[in-house]
Amino acid sequence: MNTTTQLNNFSCVCVCVCVCVCVQMGYANPQQTAAGIHTRLYSRAFIIDDRRRRVLFVTADVGMISQRLRLEVLQALQVKYGDLYRQDNVVLSGTHTHSGPAGYFQYTLFMITSKGYIKSSIEPLVNGIVKSIDRAHSNMKPGRIYRSTGELGDSSLNRSPHSYLNNPEDERHRYTETRRTYMYPYTDLMGDVDCWFAVHAVSMNYTNRMVSSDNMGYASYLMEQDKNPGELPGQGGFVAGFSSSNLGDVSPNTKGPHCVNTGLPCDYLNSSCPVGGLCKAFGPGEDMFDSTRIIGHNIYRKAKELYGSAVEEVTGFLHFAHQWVNMTDVTVQINSTHTATTCKPALGHSFAAGTTDGGGDLNFTQGAVEGDPFWDGIRDALVGKPSNQTQACHHPKPILFSTGEMNKPLPWHPEVVDVQIIILGSVAVVPVPGEMTTMSGRRLREAVRQLQSDGAFRDLEVVIAGLSNIYTHYITTYEEYQVQRYEGASTIYGPHTLSAYLQKYRGLARAIAQDRVSELPVGPQPPFFQNNLISLLAAAGVDGKPENSSFGDVLDQVLPVYRQGDVVSVTFVAGNPRHSGDMVRPEPRDKTFVTVEIYDNRTNTWEVVYTDASWETRFHWLKGSNRQSNSTVEWHIPPAAPSGSYRIRHFGHYMLRRFPQPIINPYEGVSDVFEVAASFYYQ
Ligand SMILES: *[C@@H]1O[C@H](CO)[C@@H](O)[C@H](O)[C@H]1NC(C)=O
Ligand SMILES: *[C@@H]1O[C@H](CO)[C@@H](O)[C@H](O)[C@H]1NC(C)=O
Ligand SMILES: *[C@@H]1O[C@H](CO)[C@@H](O)[C@H](O)[C@H]1NC(C)=O
Ligand SMILES: *[C@@H]1O[C@H](CO)[C@@H](O)[C@H](O)[C@H]1NC(C)=O
Ligand SMILES: *[C@@H]1O[C@H](CO)[C@@H](O)[C@H](O)[C@H]1NC(C)=O
Ligand SMILES: *[C@@H]1O[C@H](CO)[C@@H](O)[C@H](O)[C@H]1NC(C)=O
Ligand SMILES: *[C@@H]1O[C@H](CO)[C@@H](O)[C@H](O)[C@H]1NC(C)=O
Ligand SMILES: *[C@@H]1O[C@H](CO)[C@@H](O)[C@H](O)[C@H]1NC(C)=O
Ligand SMILES: *[C@@H]1O[C@H](CO)[C@@H](O)[C@H](O)[C@H]1NC(C)=O
Repeated sequence: MNTTTQLNNFSCVCVCVCVCVCVQMGYANPQQTAAGIHTRLYSRAFIIDDRRRRVLFVTADVGMISQRLRLEVLQALQVKYGDLYRQDNVVLSGTHTHSGPAGYFQYTLFMITSKGYIKSSIEPLVNGIVKSIDRAHSNMKPGRIYRSTGELGDSSLNRSPHSYLNNPEDERHRYTETRRTYMYPYTDLMGDVDCWFAVHAVSMNYTNRMVSSDNMGYASYLMEQDKNPGELPGQGGFVAGFSSSNLGDVSPNTKGPHCVNTGLPCDYLNSSCPVGGLCKAFGPGEDMFDSTRIIGHNIYRKAKELYGSAVEEVTGFLHFAHQWVNMTDVTVQINSTHTATTCKPALGHSFAAGTTDGGGDLNFTQGAVEGDPFWDGIRDALVGKPSNQTQACHHPKPILFSTGEMNKPLPWHPEVVDVQIIILGSVAVVPVPGEMTTMSGRRLREAVRQLQSDGAFRDLEVVIAGLSNIYTHYITTYEEYQVQRYEGASTIYGPHTLSAYLQKYRGLARAIAQDRVSELPVGPQPPFFQNNLISLLAAAGVDGKPENSSFGDVLDQVLPVYRQGDVVSVTFVAGNPRHSGDMVRPEPRDKTFVTVEIYDNRTNTWEVVYTDASWETRFHWLKGSNRQSNSTVEWHIPPAAPSGSYRIRHFGHYMLRRFPQPIINPYEGVSDVFEVAASFYYQ
């Protein structure tokens, strides 16, 4: 950018303290309740100001941004900053981890799959996101932006090739790229970086019960650990955001789908297996942790390379445009003689089949273009039959849930959706309200890039920021939609959804190019529901403990000696981690349930070397009978760990009683001291 440009660094901050017993969002599986922490979730905020305008981009380690979350964040920003941060210059994007909290949605479909609208889930999300924005806001410094793009192979796979191949052949042949990584390193003093890469953050599968930022979060973690040497996770000045993109049909499970029962590849068309076996994609690692590590590391390694070689400075000015659109009635010109319209939202049968990254439990298969009398009967009895009009509009999708016609106790799906573009000189960031497939994203990038033909922008690099602002499931191309795999069945506004978006985003781009943004209609305001929000998550109760023990007592002790590569494990008498939700403890153990500490025998002090945010630690919380529970802490000793004396500590809170006033007390536990011995060979 030219010399008038200011840009800024940001900050990252721990978003979640109390997610430990909430349902996790992503696989829509209510059994997937959280029971521990693999890695922490962070919000990373980037503010850029060119002295005329300002934009704010947030990437948060959550499954997706919900309309409710965005509205609550914007309300909080309004209170603090007045009109500085608004719906038109703020983008919130989720990394799409499937192991984050749920409960921050106001539409019924999302509420019923995640125990409702959970105050203790959304509050920490709002607070964490706003805190990251506060830190970015107060840290602004002059700077320059560089951009760099590259390709990363071997880290993703198309999980619906059958849909993809239904796109026109000449269109497919225009693209030879593997997956692109887009980087916009910010080289102010801090040198922070944001990077976009299209892959599902589902390396951790739905059997995982620990909160985890998955592959994208691990890429951020690695880059930040690399640039903040000696700092604990979440500390240190350098911030690396890795944001989601058009990942709709992109899986990280690069060994591809196989039948769990036969070991053979699944049916190509519908991903089914003989005698109802589960079709599941695996890899590249031995287990889900290993796969997360490999994919995260690949993304980080590529980003680091691009960061090191970025020389192309981004010049120009900031622009942005935003509209709310009623996606249920957009008229689309499909050719010179015909128009079509989008539909009231509905999900098809293949939605219930799930994907090869996480299948549904029922006997649905992908690629269904005909209904199933059995399930249609159940649907009609439970939630009602789709109207003929909606059925016709969604053709060839057999409708499972006509969510646009279901309004009790609140609408099941949104009508009003955000469309938005922000332009930083020669980089356009296009937030999309869901998961665009590879080809949908390409068509959108082409549409926005056409701005250049107006001469207003040259050499524009367009990136899709996925899972932004509001969640509306998937957006496939018209051709992919015809195949009705999971992604097509989940394209909720019907076959012309993508065309409608292309039209809307083109409109925004044109308004920017012609400097007529102020003439764009604002569109219908989204609702903010006050009543009828469901809440099914019971409050956490009083904690029990075994007779004659105290909270924090060690139940299973560490061994005296370990070697690098071993796993240390210790189990404590624990309280429910949800009771630690709002507790603030002093640094450096601010918001950690776990520390691994090394003894420094020069200063005779214990130094914290890992927390629960560290990749090397796993914090498991196990609930038993009589309200008793255990915390088990594992430390996977890395090969480079120095030998010495260590201990593990655990921090938590327990509820002593609920009535008449709840009493919640802190506790701590500490393991015996153990040695990590040099790994030399014994003979
Ligand atoms: C899946 O498609 C195959 C043909 O490729 C077909 O034989 C099979 O019956 C289908 N399975 C289901 C459950 O629809
Ligand atoms: C999830 O990953 C674990 C290995 O970490 C594996 O044992 C399990 O079979 C996987 N489950 C599914 C449903 O993919
Ligand atoms: C969206 O459009 C539909 C169909 O025209 C209409 O019934 C509905 O009231 C509109 N919703 C909003 C919020 O404007
Ligand atoms: C336009 O699309 C309609 C509906 O798909 C089709 O019937 C018609 O033939 C098309 N016209 C042209 C000129 O392609
Ligand atoms: C699914 O299961 C139900 C009940 O067992 C059965 O009636 C129906 O035909 C099955 N559908 C498919 C596609 O196999
Ligand atoms: C819907 O379509 C069915 C089958 O074509 C027809 O029998 C029925 O009368 C239609 N319902 C309405 C309300 O038009
Ligand atoms: C608890 O301590 C009391 C008093 O020392 C003792 O009598 C009792 O047996 C202990 N109970 C257990 C389960 O150890
Ligand atoms: C807690 O740990 C103890 C000791 O290993 C074990 O006996 C007990 O069953 C555990 N309780 C739970 C809830 O896992
Ligand atoms: C300090 O720790 C190192 C590494 O464990 C050990 O070699 C050394 O003997 C210790 N010194 C004292 C005074 O304990």
